[in-house]
Amino acid sequence: MKLSETNITGQIDTEEINISNFLNDVLTGLRQHPKQLQSKYFYDQRGDQLFQDIMGMPEYYLTRCEMDIFENRTADIAFGIQADNTPFDLIELGAGDASKSMHLLRHLKDLETDFRYMPIDISGNILAVLNEKLDKEVPGLDIVSLEGEYFEMLHKASQLSSRRKVILFLGSNIGNMELEEAYRFCFELRKNLNKGDVVMIGFDLKKEPNTILNAYNDKEGVTASFNLNLLERINKELDADFEVGKFEHFETYDPITGACRSYLISLEDQTVSISDAVFHFEANEPVYMEVSQKFSMEDTHKMAVQSGFKAVHSIMDSREWFVDVFWTAL
Ligand code: AVI
Repeated sequence: MKLSETNITGQIDTEEINISNFLNDVLTGLRQHPKQLQSKYFYDQRGDQLFQDIMGMPEYYLTRCEMDIFENRTADIAFGIQADNTPFDLIELGAGDASKSMHLLRHLKDLETDFRYMPIDISGNILAVLNEKLDKEVPGLDIVSLEGEYFEMLHKASQLSSRRKVILFLGSNIGNMELEEAYRFCFELRKNLNKGDVVMIGFDLKKEPNTILNAYNDKEGVTASFNLNLLERINKELDADFEVGKFEHFETYDPITGACRSYLISLEDQTVSISDAVFHFEANEPVYMEVSQKFSMEDTHKMAVQSGFKAVHSIMDSREWFVDVFWTAL
C-alpha cells in the first residue's frame, strides 16, 4: 500500500506513514555533516528490552533516584501538584508502564482525591498492558488512556474535560532533547495549558562527571548494544546493509555544558546502502546518536521562566543527583 492510500476502514495506514517518516529521518540525518541519527528510534522491541536492561544496571542511577522520590516522598509530590485542591486530570507524557507514578496514583486514591489519570503514549500496546496492570494495582482508578503524539493527545485531553491539569514528564526524558528543543517543548507545553495548571518534570542533575559518564558507558556494553541496535533496526525495517561490527560506541560528557553525548564511530572506510540510497563512512567518522543533557537547579529555573512557568517546588532524591520540579503556568 502506498503512503497516500487508505486501508479497508478508510483510515490512512499509520504503519506505512511511520516507516516513511523513519526512512526520511534516517536519510536526512545521514546526509548531514556530521552524520546523525535520532535516538527516538532506539525503541523497537529489542530497544525496549535493552532500555529495561539499562535501567537495571548498577551504573544507571537515574531510574533508582526518581523511584526513591516516588516511593519516599509521595506526600510531598501530592503537595507539589496541589492534590488537595480542586479536582484535576493527571496527564503523564510517555507513561510507559507507570512504575514510578503508580506510587502516586495509589497515594491519591487512598486520600480519596478527585482526579482522573490520563496516560499518553505512542504505543497502544504499552497502554493496554498498563490498563490491565492498573486495574489490579489501583482498583477503581478513573483512567482514560490516550494513544498518540504528546501535543495532539494533550489537545484531545482538553476537549474531553475542562478540569485543571497536572502534567507529569518524568525520567529525564527532557534531557534527550537538544537544549533549544527542550525550551521549545516547554513553551509549547505552556501554550496547551491554562493559567494555574501544574507540570512536574524530572531532570537529571550535573554531578561528579565520571558518575555520569559511567551511566552511559557501562563495562558490559549494554549501552553500546542499545545504540548499535538502531543500525540493526534500520537494516530490518529500511532494507539496509550496515555491518554492525564495523561500528563502535563512543560516549562523552562535558561537565561545563552538561551534555552527555553518544556516537557510533565507523571503524573503517565503508559503504552502506539504505533502500535506494548509498552512504560512505570514512574510517573514524562519527555518527551522532543521542544527547542526555544534565542540568543545574539554576538551568531548570531559567527554563521555567523562559517558557511561561513559575517554579514553585522541587524534590531531590537522598543523594541530590536527580530532581523533580513543580512549575505552575503563569
Ligand atoms: C530515556 N532517556 C532518559 C535515557 C537517558 O538517560 O538519556 C535514554 C538512555 N540512553 C542511554 N542510556 C539511557
